[in-house]
Amino acid sequence: MPVRKSRKSQTHPKPAGISELFAPVAEQLELVRSQLVGRLTSRYDSVNHQMESVGAGQGKLFRAAMVLLSGKAIGSIRHEHIEFAMMVELVHTATLLHDDVIDQARTRRNQPTMNQLWGNTAAVLMGDFLLSRAFLAGAELNIPRSGKILSQTAEQICQGELLQNLRQGDVSLTEEDYLEIIEGKTASLFSAACVLGALASKADPVLEDMLREYGRCVGMAFQITDDILDITGDDKHIGKTLGTDLGQNKLTLPLIYCLRKKRPAARKTLIESLSQMDKTSRIEQLQLNGSLDLAREKASDYAQIAVKALGRLKPGTARESLEKIALTVSSRS
Ligand code: IPE
Ligand code: IPE
Ligand code: MG
Ligand code: MG
Repeated sequence: MPVRKSRKSQTHPKPAGISELFAPVAEQLELVRSQLVGRLTSRYDSVNHQMESVGAGQGKLFRAAMVLLSGKAIGSIRHEHIEFAMMVELVHTATLLHDDVIDQARTRRNQPTMNQLWGNTAAVLMGDFLLSRAFLAGAELNIPRSGKILSQTAEQICQGELLQNLRQGDVSLTEEDYLEIIEGKTASLFSAACVLGALASKADPVLEDMLREYGRCVGMAFQITDDILDITGDDKHIGKTLGTDLGQNKLTLPLIYCLRKKRPAARKTLIESLSQMDKTSRIEQLQLNGSLDLAREKASDYAQIAVKALGRLKPGTARESLEKIALTVSSRS
């Protein structure tokens, strides 16, 4: 077995305020974190050794928290909520392993990525292993709808990533095309997290629909903001390799806004010139022509729709947290 450098076991420092956001479910979230690691044990020591590089449980656990908070906003937290939270986090982590291969990213959660440490093949296979464990956990629960929700979500994520890949380098990508891509690759999992929380609390269909829409809009705001940070953020502060979108000719919202009034030939020239600029000049340019602010406004619009979607949910700490989450994801920096 080749001996590779493993990730350090410490967790990536979380953004300020995140523990307050998740406070109503803090205890259960810690349970999810510890169970995640346990769920990933293989009967092979060599696989377990490699697994240490995955960084399971070292992320912000946003989606897991949304399962728990959605559940708590309706009733009390049960064993099924913990299981669902773990399942969505496993699916999320698997998509990150695959995403870092696609984006050739070197850092994630302030640690070297799996692909950086072990190569692309290992990272893809490990992602598949995590997905299998997520579906196994779903199959072991006696709630058949949860398996369907999880499978449909995995399908939506893949289709979002496939669409993104097909449109790579396409300067005619519209805002609508972009929104469709991120709805699949990101918002679908946020939405499923909230639906699963509602399902485990046996919520009535109206409340479940409200939480589905809430989760979708939070996911949209989250990805738009992530794409802004890919342009404006600092790798060390965010803890992952940034700049990969423009670096790989993937058009995201600020760039789409910047290009939208231009003809195709002018779009290509502008993208080339933005790619060649240093980071500060690029940010300055996108700030001056208003593209970054427009994208920020779009994220904030989704956050507002998310808060409104919570309409008939009973007041309480869980609901307050869900509201704060929506507003926080769209103003992350
Ligand atoms: C990163 O998600 C992937 C995107 C959808 C942008 P997170 O920022 O939630 O990743 P971790 O789990 O906290 O590392
Ligand atoms: C998010 O896309 C990946 C998935 C939702 C699968 P990004 O490529 O923007 O995510 P980061 O920025 O690498 O975390
Ligand atoms: Mg990426
Ligand atoms: Mg990104």
